Amino acid sequence: MENKILDAKNSFENELKKIDNLSKLEELRIKYLSRKGTLNQLFDEFKNLPSAEKQKYGKSLNELKNFFQENYEKLKANLEQTETKVEDFIDWSLPGRKRNLGSKHILIQTLDEIKSVFKSIGFSVYEGPELESDYNNFEALNFPSDHPARDMQDTFFINNSFLLRTHTSPVQIRVMQQLKPPIRVIVPGKVYRNEAISAKSYCLFHQVEGLYVDTDVTFSELKGTLVSFAKQLFGDNLKYRFRASFFPFTEPSAEMDIWWQPTGKEGRWLEILGCGMVDPNVLTNVGIDPEHYTGYAFGMGVERMTLLKYGIDDIRIFFDNDKRFLIQF
Ligand code: PHE
Repeated sequence: MENKILDAKNSFENELKKIDNLSKLEELRIKYLSRKGTLNQLFDEFKNLPSAEKQKYGKSLNELKNFFQENYEKLKANLEQTETKVEDFIDWSLPGRKRNLGSKHILIQTLDEIKSVFKSIGFSVYEGPELESDYNNFEALNFPSDHPARDMQDTFFINNSFLLRTHTSPVQIRVMQQLKPPIRVIVPGKVYRNEAISAKSYCLFHQVEGLYVDTDVTFSELKGTLVSFAKQLFGDNLKYRFRASFFPFTEPSAEMDIWWQPTGKEGRWLEILGCGMVDPNVLTNVGIDPEHYTGYAFGMGVERMTLLKYGIDDIRIFFDNDKRFLIQF
């Protein structure tokens, strides 16, 4: 026992001399003074000694303990004084860095506005895939494969049966296959057209489709809904007109124009959406009885709405990701 106490003291002293920072000192503390450290091991052995021996070594063990602790505390105090802490390197007077917050893209803001108008009158929001079947995009919407109306929409074909949807109208088919009337949905989403890129057209844009199917849905309801929608978006003084038009999947069909008056320039009529009564053939294609039900549908371009609302004259700017444009909204 005596030797062990001496050994412990010597090696502690030796190691102590080499310590020049707090983390090494902590290692020393763990080795000698922690619960499983040298000192406690010696005390454990001490407990098992016959009582005669206990008297002999009790004192020197206690001295060892004090020696460890005093030297440890002393060196610790010393090191704490000289060692520079991380905090000393921080310059609390430096001004902070400003963080720039992102915001919603202007198209998404317009889309949100359109959605909230229709949600407030009982439409729910539905979505469909951008990669669509020829059947849903054309065939079921009453465009037979040789129909010239297909030329209205230049298509990115994937193969003979699949394509990038050219409008959101195929989601009408999906919705009517899944839900039973009354159906009242809007469908926002991206659509693709293989058109030359210019200030007026882009290969990708956003549409919002609307569909309402029930007994006794009328064309005048369609007009009333669209007029009230357009006024909420463009203001009560809006001048508008409906023009007869053609879409294979609606009959009769119309387009809605609004009067556009840029300051200092000549005003003109601009088309904002296509609409009409769902063609009976389309209802038949999805198994809804056209003798019993009628419906209306409409489709509008989100880019077009945004251009008009904010007086922007080039559609490409929406897709450039130019911060100078984006931060204005
Ligand atoms: N899908 C048509 C287009 O993209 C718009 C439309 C939708 C017209 C619904 C009538 C009814 O041009």
